[in-house]
Amino acid sequence: MGLLTECSSKSRSQERESIIFENLMIIGMVCNQLENPLGIGYLPPLLGWKLSPQEKGLWCYQSAYQIQVASSKEYLSANEPDLWDSGKIISEKSTLIPYEGTSLCSRQRCFWRVRVWDQHDNCSPFSLSSFWETGLLHSEDWEGEWIGGPPSKGGLALYFRHVFNIKKPILRARAYLAGLGYHELHLNGKKVGDHVLEPGWTDYDKRVFYVTHDAAPFLQIGYNAIGVIVGNGWLGMPKLLLQLEVFYEDGSIETLATHGGHTHAPDVWHVGTGPVRGNSIYDGETYDARLEMSGWDIPNLDNDTFPSHFSVAMPIESPRGKLCSQELEPIRVVGTHAPKDIREIHPGIFVVDAGQNLAGWVRIRLRAKAGTCIQLRYAENLREDGSINQDNLRTAMATDTYYAKGGDKEEWEPRFTYHGFRYVQIEGWPGQLHPDSLDIRTVRSDLKPVGTFQCGYPLLNAIQKIVFNTEASNLHSVPTDCPQRDERLGWLNDMTVRTEELLYHFQAGQFLAKWVDDIADIQNSNGSITDTAPFKWGKRPADPVSVSYLLSAWLCHLHYGDFRILETHYDGFQRWVAYLEAQTEEGILRYSSWGDWAPPEAFADSESIGAGAVSRETPGELISTGYLYYHHILMAKIANVLEKRADATYYEHRAKEVAAAFHRAFWKESVGGYGSNNQSCNALALSFHLVPAENIPRVVDNLVRNVENHGNHLTTGNLCSKYLLEALSEHGRIDVAFRIATQTTYPSWGYMLENGATTLWERWEYSVGGAMHSHNHPMLGSVASWMFKYLAGILPDEQHPGFRRFIIHPRIVSKLGWVEATYHTQNGVISSGWSSQSDRLEIRLKVPSNCCAKIIMPDGTPSIDVGPGEHSFTTANPVSYIA
Ligand code: BGC
Repeated sequence: MGLLTECSSKSRSQERESIIFENLMIIGMVCNQLENPLGIGYLPPLLGWKLSPQEKGLWCYQSAYQIQVASSKEYLSANEPDLWDSGKIISEKSTLIPYEGTSLCSRQRCFWRVRVWDQHDNCSPFSLSSFWETGLLHSEDWEGEWIGGPPSKGGLALYFRHVFNIKKPILRARAYLAGLGYHELHLNGKKVGDHVLEPGWTDYDKRVFYVTHDAAPFLQIGYNAIGVIVGNGWLGMPKLLLQLEVFYEDGSIETLATHGGHTHAPDVWHVGTGPVRGNSIYDGETYDARLEMSGWDIPNLDNDTFPSHFSVAMPIESPRGKLCSQELEPIRVVGTHAPKDIREIHPGIFVVDAGQNLAGWVRIRLRAKAGTCIQLRYAENLREDGSINQDNLRTAMATDTYYAKGGDKEEWEPRFTYHGFRYVQIEGWPGQLHPDSLDIRTVRSDLKPVGTFQCGYPLLNAIQKIVFNTEASNLHSVPTDCPQRDERLGWLNDMTVRTEELLYHFQAGQFLAKWVDDIADIQNSNGSITDTAPFKWGKRPADPVSVSYLLSAWLCHLHYGDFRILETHYDGFQRWVAYLEAQTEEGILRYSSWGDWAPPEAFADSESIGAGAVSRETPGELISTGYLYYHHILMAKIANVLEKRADATYYEHRAKEVAAAFHRAFWKESVGGYGSNNQSCNALALSFHLVPAENIPRVVDNLVRNVENHGNHLTTGNLCSKYLLEALSEHGRIDVAFRIATQTTYPSWGYMLENGATTLWERWEYSVGGAMHSHNHPMLGSVASWMFKYLAGILPDEQHPGFRRFIIHPRIVSKLGWVEATYHTQNGVISSGWSSQSDRLEIRLKVPSNCCAKIIMPDGTPSIDVGPGEHSFTTANPVSYIA
């Protein structure tokens, strides 16, 4: 038993705190989880902030807050909040606080500030002001119509152009636009903003995102030109809707919007084709720089028939979906780096090594004769002769083609495609290819990274890194399964075990809320949902393992305290669960499509659909019934949060019935396990708490034996690999989980690293060909959330969602030596670490201002509650945990 001593707790001195309070800063002000968002549509806006001590080591609690909202900054500074003054609200809450002021209308800019009181009722100064601005909230706000061009051949992008006159000084201007599939807005010759691959992908029959840009910095008194390039994206045929609103200093407002068919200025919108000759997400982009139309997006003062081959844009059928504001982190180029290596494998054929598998593209710089054709073919793998191997991309051509303009230096990168790659084979390059001619561009939804994990066992750090890189490669407005082949879909089965890992790595509140909307969009009247959302492939009904519909929302509630997703989708959740219920026979849910997908080859059914990745030994009906139980448990929890007590009771009751049916159907008394008694069956049963207490020790022993019989290797697929590590860790066998997680022989994460992986593979096997051998696939990445949850022990507290109160419960594996992890929550940064010496263990913890933590001591001594500040404890090293 460890003897507990608190070495330091810098938060104790009241005196010090109150002096210091004056230095307290309110930081990280967000509205709908975004900083100063333009064009919001989700109402009422939800406001949040963090408290940060200016000086290291000074901490406090918030006991009350006051929010003021005004229509101008001046009103705020004059203390005249004309839209809302919350007054002093006694509350510790500092996240997702609904605006309760005067009702908001479209295009309304609101400035807000906040002050807080500490635990001694000292009042902070007001924060600096932040703002939000509403978008076009009603369909009547849209004055224009969707326009298009003549049916385009071969994936040509369309270039739209409109010229207009501004006669007086402008106060502000907003461009609202929805260009499908992808668009790029130019004003007077300049690209507006730094977003790419916009708008985010949705089911266009249900919702179409419009984005809002501040257009004022690009406009001028006199003639102005709008140019929009629209590519195919996920729609496959370019369409544009745009509205530009100009607010003049004299108080007048002018609106111009897309209209088709008008032939005369000032209403005419022209459309034509340009240098983008082909564009496809999967196949790549073709760009002929000889066709560049210099000045196509600037006003031509003499005669606006330019470019001469443009014709009048025509009205086009609008997408059926509702226009909604894109309240989501945009996709951006988030990183640019030089190639790691370039090899000339045959004269004139170069293979570039980006040094890392990633999602994005290559930017090229060159001087070449006009018409020189340069081809860039992207791949994850190489053949033995050093050339690229695209076999695992299936039908995706993954090729960008550039025709040089000739003359001085040219620079180009694609705009309507992206690739998953490590290698690029470049052909047609004029002369020698040097590293300074290329940039590797990493492209993803620009979610903030929020978690770091380091420990004294380099292999685990390396695994953590490749999981992070895989997750980062698969955030493209949808949590995709892979970034390279002809797929890139939001698979619900993968997300069931991936969402937690995503949350420990990225601030994903808006992203997941959007994805849960995507699932709701594909729900049928009978409650069924599909395997992918937005739906492109897979089955309807989705495999019952698709609890990610509920779980993503539930985890957003736990991690961010965001219960609005629960509220919004409660009805949909109920209908999906009712659908599953209706498919049961005697309490067993027999249908299963993927189950514990993609276990090691020897455990997969080689005859099964989907390239032999269905588990041979794990009965689909066991997995499906287990998940039915999990659905009920989550429904009961959600119903409780939403105070729907009768529903909660119903789901709890149903959960018990399903558990009983599960036990009846799958428990094998003779072996002390479930189903085929393999790792997956027993790990799932333990993780879902389906095992009656008296049987737990037997099942755990059984599971441990099974792992040992496989040389400390797993035999699980995408789902149960998570449950295997977690069930062992929960039941006192973190040593066994650790051995599995740190294997370097097949099948294991370490085996991937040994074979050069820089991102996770789809299968445990190394293969560079075939239908299902992605090398950048996040579905096996739950080992990373296991590290955060069990090795660093950072856990949400279900009773206090949103990490204002949280749990620290590290499990000690002394072979690790030490662990240091951080997690940026909405309330501030948590850090948790420990180091183990021969007989002593030191636990270190940082709790952000306004937060508190319960530390569950690994040596079994009573748990400790701590407040904001830095804490460290030493205990006797709990030897029983040494692996
Ligand atoms: C996807 C996987 C998914 C599977 C389910 C594959 O094509 O890439 O991520 O789990 O389909 O069938």
